Amino acid sequence: MNESSSAALDLAGAFDLFVQASQQLEKQHAVLSHKVDALSADLVKANLRLHSLLDALPAAVILVEQGIVTHVNPAARQLLPQLVTSSVWRVPDTWMAGEGPNEYQFVEQGSRRTVQMQQIVNPHGSVIQIQDITDNLRTLEESERVDRLAAMGKMSAAIAHQLRTPLSTALLYASHLTNVDLAPTDQQDFARRLQGQLLSLNKLSSNMLQFIRTRPLKTGQWPVDDLVREAAQSVEALRQERGMSLSLELGAQGYLVSVEKSSLVSALVGIIENAFQVCSAGQVIVVRTDSDAAHVRIVIEDEGPGIAPDMIDHLFDPFATSRISGTGLGLAIARNTIRSHRGDIAAHNRPEGGASFTVVLPSLEHF
Ligand SMILES: Nc1ncnc2c1ncn2[C@@H]1O[C@H](COP(=O)(O)OP(=O)(O)O)[C@@H](O)[C@H]1O
Ligand SMILES: [Mg+2]
Repeated sequence: MNESSSAALDLAGAFDLFVQASQQLEKQHAVLSHKVDALSADLVKANLRLHSLLDALPAAVILVEQGIVTHVNPAARQLLPQLVTSSVWRVPDTWMAGEGPNEYQFVEQGSRRTVQMQQIVNPHGSVIQIQDITDNLRTLEESERVDRLAAMGKMSAAIAHQLRTPLSTALLYASHLTNVDLAPTDQQDFARRLQGQLLSLNKLSSNMLQFIRTRPLKTGQWPVDDLVREAAQSVEALRQERGMSLSLELGAQGYLVSVEKSSLVSALVGIIENAFQVCSAGQVIVVRTDSDAAHVRIVIEDEGPGIAPDMIDHLFDPFATSRISGTGLGLAIARNTIRSHRGDIAAHNRPEGGASFTVVLPSLEHF
């Protein structure tokens, strides 16, 4: 065989191999493209299923990819009528940060609504779920109010008693005042005492009203440390009078709470005043704050005798008091206030002596 015919044979062999390989590839390509078609059809079906599932959900759901809205379910369209697919996702300007983490408030047709927003981020985008919690909050508030009214009902005998003592004393002073033979200095004295009794009755009745009040009236966002400073300022005169120290260890710098300022400050004042009432001159009351991502904590500690064993389980009940001139409403009101801001309060005796009260409140974003 000459050289050229052997080269032609090699070429023919190679060509055969090439044809075989191409045929193989073509077959594989056909199988693969069939698979791709089937997978694409499955994907379309899965997408349809996903969208019909999202559309059936009562909660508002928005799908976002690279910051762009790709799907808005009917509940979300109802909540955010101006939101359209292909637009950039952002929280509406009219929504304001609410009282709890991930909460927003806005006014719709004259009524205030509260929503909670959850965002699940995955590598392909995020799923934003928005739930209208206005009605849940209202039901919760209403049931808390019913509980408080029931507590008041149960306490009606105690209320009558609370009112009777200052009332009958006031009546006594008033009857002295009707005595025409009374010396002017005595008259002045009885008038002053009568005024004192009426003032304490007035305070008692406003405390009772405060106790059954439902929700915070006007909330604003305040740095928690500032609220503690304000409470300390309000008790300054009493502190000096009692000769005690109040030490502030503020460690929640930059954490805001959404509260009705005056109510929260008076709750803190009530707790600090109790500590002043049980401590002796020279003792120290410490108010400490700290925070984590979602909560702030305010701890009030004293060096007093600690909470009496028979008080420890009733501390926050209305009219529970161990003081002769106490109303037992201070801590009951403080707890209501704190709970109406979705926080809580607890107390315990410290092993080293004295009582410790801990207030926890949901915090807003760090500024
Ligand atoms: N720091 C404290 N140390 C010990 N006992 C306390 C302290 N704070 C509160 N208490 C107890 O809790 C009771 C209820 O307090 P409060 O609700 O403020 O009512 P009041 O001050 O009118 O007694 C007090 O009478 C006292 O027995
Ligand atoms: Mg008190």
